[in-house]
Amino acid sequence: MTNRTFTMIKPDAMKNGHAGAILNQIIKAGFRIVALKQTKLSTDNAGEFYAVHKERPFYTELVQFMSSGIIIAAILEKDNAVADFRKLIGATNPAQAEEGTIRKLYATSLGENAVHGSDSDENAEIEGNFFFSGLEKF
Ligand code: RTP
Ligand code: MG
Repeated sequence: MTNRTFTMIKPDAMKNGHAGAILNQIIKAGFRIVALKQTKLSTDNAGEFYAVHKERPFYTELVQFMSSGIIIAAILEKDNAVADFRKLIGATNPAQAEEGTIRKLYATSLGENAVHGSDSDENAEIEGNFFFSGLEKF
């Protein structure tokens, strides 16, 4: 399971029409889609997903934003998936993201930064299971 990561295309990128381009970039970078769905988080769902950030000053804003519109959630597979995907998406703040990264190309701001990427193998597993049952992973 250590070759999997989890991603979301966030509401800003969905609203701005970047979902197709982002998925294309992910696939071209060599990630295989294990599971994928379009969905919308309630504020409770978003609060639970980002519970690790509960004490951070941006938590309320983050929960509000992540429940503000439709998202795409996906489990991705590749050697070294977690680290390679973080590299593909770029820094949290798009102003600091490298040229060609998904956040550099498509993010709106630090808070509304187009995509999520898991930060560890353990969290990739937890986050994937938050959205997908065993019957939805191939
Ligand atoms: P993510 O979990 O969404 O992949 O992002 P990340 O690891 O690069 O960044 P993280 O520190 O986990 O923060 C989670 C998300 O919270 C929002 N954020 N807002 N306004 C702010 O200062 C601030 N800082 C972080 C971003 O949407 C970030 O992706
Ligand atoms: Mg994070």
